[in-house]
Amino acid sequence: MKSANIFWQSQSGNTYACVIKTKEALEAVGFSVSLRHILSSAPDALEADLLVFAFPVYNFKPATAMAGFIEKLPACSKETPALALITCTGLMANIPYILRKKLKLKNILLSEAVKIPASETYILLRKYFKGTMELDSRLNEAELEGVKKQIAGILDGGLKKKAYIFNPFSLWHWLGKMSPEAAPGKPFQKRSWDEEKCTLCGDCYALCPSGSIKRSGDKLSVNTSTCVGCCGCFNICPSNAWKMEKFGEEFFLKNRHTAKLVEAIRASTKR
Ligand SMILES: Cc1cc2nc3c(=O)[nH]c(=O)nc-3n(C[C@H](O)[C@H](O)[C@H](O)COP(=O)(O)O)c2cc1C
Ligand code: SF4
Ligand code: SF4
Repeated sequence: MKSANIFWQSQSGNTYACVIKTKEALEAVGFSVSLRHILSSAPDALEADLLVFAFPVYNFKPATAMAGFIEKLPACSKETPALALITCTGLMANIPYILRKKLKLKNILLSEAVKIPASETYILLRKYFKGTMELDSRLNEAELEGVKKQIAGILDGGLKKKAYIFNPFSLWHWLGKMSPEAAPGKPFQKRSWDEEKCTLCGDCYALCPSGSIKRSGDKLSVNTSTCVGCCGCFNICPSNAWKMEKFGEEFFLKNRHTAKLVEAIRASTKR
């Protein structure tokens, strides 16, 4: 039996929902699949017939925690094909090109990069396009089945070695290069934590991709200079204990994928 490892990261559940469909598509063609959340996986667990890297786009770059995870990976003993599953509002910039270069250093060949438009948790879009974009219709069951079909089609056709070419004219690529790692978190600096509401369940600090939330005794604090503004803590908190000045509760979707995400992260961090 062929084996596949899916390394995943997801702050509000979109990517995780796609990961489940990818797993089903791989199993349907005979793969044994293991899911590895990047905050809990030992990076040495690399040997497999296929590797999948699933993550969202943040400020025209691969999500920081995933980029850091890939950098720390040891090289594969033999060249191993890989598939990238990238959720975003649509602006993937030159991520497949960047990713291909990073993976090559690890003897991993990025064969396909699948882009999945899934923006419903992007609060800035929700703020500016509310009412004019069908944000809530993203990633419903039909669309997730579409993701599954897309993956099945790729597997059926055999993984092609696609060339991902650097596009010097991509404005988004240059914007991504210019934005320092801390910049995406800027709008998230004016935030508060409600001690009364917080049950210290541990979900937000287990999920935070930049390790910005710390618990000290019964108090939580955030390092706003390392926060990448992924919204994860706001989306995941079951008690709405996180608040932000400019965005009310309605912007943080406790969306239909969040419960499953919480469950998966709890299981992978063994809490
Ligand atoms: C701070 C922030 C920055 C983002 N930057 C981009 C971007 O540059 N390009 C893009 O297409 N989508 C961007 N998005 C949208 C996310 O990639 C998208 O919502 C994704 O589906 C989130 O995946 P998740 O639910 O697995 O966390 C951004 C979202 C946030 C919150
Ligand atoms: S503290 Fe920042 S980086 Fe961490 S989960 Fe919250 S929004 Fe994301
Ligand atoms: S997710 Fe919410 S309730 Fe749980 S520890 Fe974080 S702030 Fe507290």
